[in-house]
Amino acid sequence: MSIINQNNTFIIQTNSNHYVIGVDKNGTNRFYYWGKKCSIEDYCADYVGFLTSNHTDLDGICQECSPFGLTMYRNFGLKAMFPDGCREISLDFIKSESDKNDLKLIFKDKCYSLEVILNYKTYDDSDIITKWITVKNTGNESIIFEKLFSGEFSLPGVKPYKFKNTNGSWGAEFLETETLLDGGSLIYESRRGTSSHINSPQFVAHQNADEKSGNVFFGVLEYSGNFKVEASRDLYGKTRVALGLNDFDFEYELTAGETFDTPKIHFGLSEGFGNMSRSLNRFAINHIFPKKFAKTPLLVLYNSWEATYFDVNTADQSRLAEKAAKAGVELFVMDDGWFGQRKDDHAGLGDWYVNEEKFPGGLTELINNVNKLGMDFGIWVEPEMVNPDSDLYRNHPEWAYHYDTRTPSELRNQLVLNMTKPEVQEYIYNCLSDLLSNHNIKYIKWDMNRPFSEAGAENLKHPKMLWYLHTKAVYDLVDRLKEEHPDVQFECCSSGGGRADWGAFRHFDMIWTSDNTDAIDRLNIQNGYTLTRPIKAMRAWVTDIEGYNRNTPLEFRFHVAMRGSLSLGGNMQKYSDEDMKISKEKIDFYKKIRNIVQFGDMYRLLNLDEDEISADIYVNEEKSKAVLFIAAVNTRCFKKSIPLFIDGLDDNKKYSFTFDNKEIVKSGAYLKNVGIPLEVRQQYYNKIIEINEVK
Ligand code: DGJ
Repeated sequence: MSIINQNNTFIIQTNSNHYVIGVDKNGTNRFYYWGKKCSIEDYCADYVGFLTSNHTDLDGICQECSPFGLTMYRNFGLKAMFPDGCREISLDFIKSESDKNDLKLIFKDKCYSLEVILNYKTYDDSDIITKWITVKNTGNESIIFEKLFSGEFSLPGVKPYKFKNTNGSWGAEFLETETLLDGGSLIYESRRGTSSHINSPQFVAHQNADEKSGNVFFGVLEYSGNFKVEASRDLYGKTRVALGLNDFDFEYELTAGETFDTPKIHFGLSEGFGNMSRSLNRFAINHIFPKKFAKTPLLVLYNSWEATYFDVNTADQSRLAEKAAKAGVELFVMDDGWFGQRKDDHAGLGDWYVNEEKFPGGLTELINNVNKLGMDFGIWVEPEMVNPDSDLYRNHPEWAYHYDTRTPSELRNQLVLNMTKPEVQEYIYNCLSDLLSNHNIKYIKWDMNRPFSEAGAENLKHPKMLWYLHTKAVYDLVDRLKEEHPDVQFECCSSGGGRADWGAFRHFDMIWTSDNTDAIDRLNIQNGYTLTRPIKAMRAWVTDIEGYNRNTPLEFRFHVAMRGSLSLGGNMQKYSDEDMKISKEKIDFYKKIRNIVQFGDMYRLLNLDEDEISADIYVNEEKSKAVLFIAAVNTRCFKKSIPLFIDGLDDNKKYSFTFDNKEIVKSGAYLKNVGIPLEVRQQYYNKIIEINEVK
């Protein structure tokens, strides 16, 4: 890891790759190269232009940050209006600053008091690079930004790239798409206030890559609100990608003297999708998750939602807690329903005081019961919301986003609070701080259950800033509460995985993956999740088959949930002795393997959709222990017999394990190249195999 400055050509060097940028003789920021390492002295800022009356130099070059203006007509990352009405930015290079891991390229507008800084950061233990843009107003008057992206990328070569993203919805998060971009533009975005269930704030571009081979260029945006990823390919075959805060309904007033940092992009180049996922996974553990719990295994939790919905009270929750504790659960989380006049989803949001009818004397009795059973206690909140039927709304209707002339659209009977108002932030902070100070609560599940609408914020001079300021307010509140209550873990939920992004991973300890807890759907949802998101953060519940879920055996449901952070969410009151026995065995086993699952490297071996079988192996860092998960719902034509090639182990080490009642002792190389015979016959086939190095 190093940054080399060669006459204003900057070579950002990671373990395997070079990312080469620079400043040309006109003082323009330029992108030169992204790929395998070449000899450093060969890089230089030469450039052949192709100016014609219709196609300009600026249009043809590749840049790290393209300001709108001059003769540049392609997609851009930066657009601002200066106090005199000029809407173009024209930058001069001032200087670079760098040390071993960091680089700053500092530019200044030719006429106006605006500095633009391109920031880069490398890491000794990762191939990933972080970049973001800082804008600084050094004058006396505001500058209004209309677009303020975090960075741009240019992909090598001229052949078209395929882009992987997601096309999901509530209950169907992280479902993968792949789109060939051979001309025009491709956009992935959210306009809903959160990053949402639909597209992912990321780009994953390749030409012919698969799990194990082929160049994969990727970047993830550390942001949980409205985002935009714009990819385009021009006539000459150049593919460019830009990403950052969505410019839809966007404005940012950079006041006199203010400095603003865009959200960060973490990006890299990997051989195959598997390596990309693993390097992002490790990067999140080492550099993104809040420090306190980043390297602590997550506890096995029980969540009451699907068992009791809004019908919570001390006696029922205590009984559930007893069952959960018997099975080996370590953390009991009471979900929605404990506060205000909350009987269903029509009332109560905003009134964060205990419902005395359900909990006479408060929550302490329940928390004590849970603690006596040896478990921590956690609780659900949805702080950014208000039901019109609540004391909060009756007292402060003006605290929800609104326009005086429009009827507010209620989704799930609730409205979004205007989190840009300091008094709203203070109210929420006080409620949650009191809740945490007065109770032995070790876990907050922070939910957010609807997109924004009628997004009027009369308090703001520039109301379009609300989208950004809202997300920032959420981060600030969580950070503040965490600082004051350092032993409390925070889960980020938004109707399931509506905010499962790298902004959430920076501020929360984990996320809720999806309200769809059907074990079969979950295999796909979780598989898509793992492409660009860290496994440890993926909460996965074992729930009941009644209701929407298909009739999968309990063992199978455990199997699926054990591929992430195991959690339970069924009505354990109804569990038979046999169910309790299975639960106890599985939880005990998970505790044995959870370090490998949560902190190891995962290799996707088989994919349910493509192979009819889903198989993932998790391998510890030393490659001395591994856990192999194999599951299938059904296979066509009686059975499927294939060799299973087990990747991820050390070629030169010997491993032993039991498979289909046979003792197998083979080298990592053999298991990878020859494989083991796998025969899948029955419905809901599932196996979890522990593999150990033979010393
Ligand atoms: C949506 C979440 O995704 C669920 O897990 C649950 O917490 C409900 N909200 C509660 O209202």
